[in-house]
Amino acid sequence: MKTIAVLTSGGDAPGMNAAVRAVVRTACVNGIRVLGVLRGYNGLINGDFIEMNLRSVSDIIHRGGTKLYSARSAEFATEEGMQKAIHTCKENGIDGVVVIGGDGSFRGARDLSERGIPCVGIPGTIDNDIACCDYTIGYDTCLNTIMDCVDRIRDTTESHDRCTVVEVMGRRSGYLALNAGIAVGATSILIPEIKFDIEKDVIERMKRTQLTDKKHFLIVVAEGVGVNVVDLAKSIQEKTGVESRACILGHIQRGGSPTVKDRVMATRMGNYAVKELLMKNIGNKVVASRHGDIVDYDIFEALNMQKHIDEDLFRVAMEVSI
Ligand code: F6P
Repeated sequence: MKTIAVLTSGGDAPGMNAAVRAVVRTACVNGIRVLGVLRGYNGLINGDFIEMNLRSVSDIIHRGGTKLYSARSAEFATEEGMQKAIHTCKENGIDGVVVIGGDGSFRGARDLSERGIPCVGIPGTIDNDIACCDYTIGYDTCLNTIMDCVDRIRDTTESHDRCTVVEVMGRRSGYLALNAGIAVGATSILIPEIKFDIEKDVIERMKRTQLTDKKHFLIVVAEGVGVNVVDLAKSIQEKTGVESRACILGHIQRGGSPTVKDRVMATRMGNYAVKELLMKNIGNKVVASRHGDIVDYDIFEALNMQKHIDEDLFRVAMEVSI
């Protein structure tokens, strides 16, 4: 490979910059030209590229967001958009593309791969919902941000003997809610992967703990369950007598300086994508972490894999946070 391109796509995630840096630096020190593609697949369609060198990724390892900007491209989802992107790649001599993003972005990479442009995916999403990976870049930072925010919420919740229902991100998954819920000691955690009943799993649990003299409560809800947290807080107040508030954390969860874990994982994955795959002319792959090791999967296989939440971890949470 003589020229590769790198892009970030979908919802941004802290650590994406560290991954871009690793891709660019690994390519540059090995004599490969790198183009940075701006705004995800839109940039690939429109030829919105910047020539990258060792210094163009200086001072970004510690920054949240993505220097390459990100987008969810509606045009790329069409055959016409895809063909335009292929044309732009060919015109610019791009031999391979590194796509940093979530599973939607990987589907785009799979489609490009199928049409002859070798792609390598690097998992970057706060949701940690990519089936082939134990871990996705941004997840750890996001968990720590949620924990920090909810610790603050706890202070005021406790001072007022209240219950606060906190909604955290996770479009279709409960990894953030489950692990953050454990870290903040939430009385109830609602996630899409585990069936729940508000009466039994929230109201009755609260009433049981009230009998042990507990006076303030945190309930963590994954956005993916589709529960309106304002209505839930009202209902909790009516049924338990505990004054309740709702808080939707929102996009604050997606920003901020990446943690050590995210910077290191992003650096390892970015290096692997270039050194172990594209430089060996291997494309159509997803880089993944498995039990601490960096590995790769065929992109088609990766997208057909299933990931299951750790039900025992949920059991632990329910047994301890009472
Ligand atoms: O996929 C990451 C994520 O932050 C989800 O948790 C959330 O549902 C979604 O993106 C929000 O997307 P947007 O930034 O487009 O509102």
